[in-house]
Amino acid sequence: MDETQKLLSRKPILAALQGKVPKSIPIWLMRQAGRYLPEYREIRKQRRSFLDLCYSPELAAEITLQPIRRFGFDAAILFSDILVLPDALGQKVWFEEGVGPRLIPVSPRDPLNPAALDNLYDNENYKLKTVYDAIRIIREGLPAGCTLIGFAGGPWTVATYMIEGGTSRSFEKIRHWAVTDPTSFEKFMAVLVEATSLHLIGQIEAGVEAVQIFDSHSGILDEEGFEKWIVEPTKKVVAQVRNHFSQIPIIGFPRGAGTKLLSYINQLEVQGVGLDQYVSCKWAAENIQRVVPVQGNLDPIYLLSDIETLYRKTLDTLSHFGGNPYIFNLGHGVIKETDPKTVEFLVKAVRDFEVN
Ligand code: CP3
Repeated sequence: MDETQKLLSRKPILAALQGKVPKSIPIWLMRQAGRYLPEYREIRKQRRSFLDLCYSPELAAEITLQPIRRFGFDAAILFSDILVLPDALGQKVWFEEGVGPRLIPVSPRDPLNPAALDNLYDNENYKLKTVYDAIRIIREGLPAGCTLIGFAGGPWTVATYMIEGGTSRSFEKIRHWAVTDPTSFEKFMAVLVEATSLHLIGQIEAGVEAVQIFDSHSGILDEEGFEKWIVEPTKKVVAQVRNHFSQIPIIGFPRGAGTKLLSYINQLEVQGVGLDQYVSCKWAAENIQRVVPVQGNLDPIYLLSDIETLYRKTLDTLSHFGGNPYIFNLGHGVIKETDPKTVEFLVKAVRDFEVN
């Protein structure tokens, strides 16, 4: 066994992303760190704002490792947020208790200046440095078999927050801009493509071992929009990252893409694709997993159901994907009302599952 193979056998997530089928199915959960954990809520009290927490390397590292200690997941996901990027670019971003993210919106009349890119790494104490410092601390405390995953939002998804000024129901502002003035929208997206690539490269340099691109709002685009604003920009991000790190595993997560997942995996060189709970397991096993390792897709709501239902749904998911390259995950993040004991049960159910 050469060094790389040894490393892979010790890290089941990396093995799965290489197309292998580890003995026991690897598992991590989106939003595995966060408000459902009492130890997170305890640390959360130490900082007035959520962004402050994201920019405190020691605390962000500690929060990243909390669910690893408690549940022994196969991957740690960096504790941060997709909205540190607009913040680091100079847009005003804040999180309101009970509301979610708020931003002073950019618009076609007041677009993002490409010079904003200079803000990312403008002096010795640039904001994103704290994120990269957190990564270095995490790597020191990471258990041997555990993979550290970095992330960014897909350019389209980050753009929705930047233009809508927060979470949106109808996404009318961004869709209006994209269809009425595609030329200026394209320029705006180009800045985000650049910023996203730089931030992923910064994370990899600091020590993350795989990255995930969260395109949480790819589901609001029609086929043409999906090609233009999800596939094309993500292709550019992947190419830039690969230019610097040819081997780094990339997981794409175009949430809500449905059958457009086919176009996504055929055009993007990703090592894994995240599936949301709306995709049929049978369809995805036949059409997606045949081409690329998959990750997902239990509906997080079952962590709030009775234990028999959770168990049945978990086994159903595992039996569709288990025999082929696969990482168990939810279809979206852990809901904050989830009981940590239920997560413990889920991890055990996945660990005990025998692939035949
Ligand atoms: O454990 C992990 O998954 C790592 C950390 C992580 C967070 N956000 C922490 C967080 C990750 C990977 C994200 C990604 C993220 N952030 C996405 C993509 C995934 C998805 O959920 O679709 C999006 C869209 C965001 C933007 C965002 N951040 C929203 C809409 C919200 C408010 C809604 C909510 O769930 O509270 C956040 C806040 C946020 N990000 C929290 C955490 C732990 C809650 C902050 C708090 O403590 O109050």
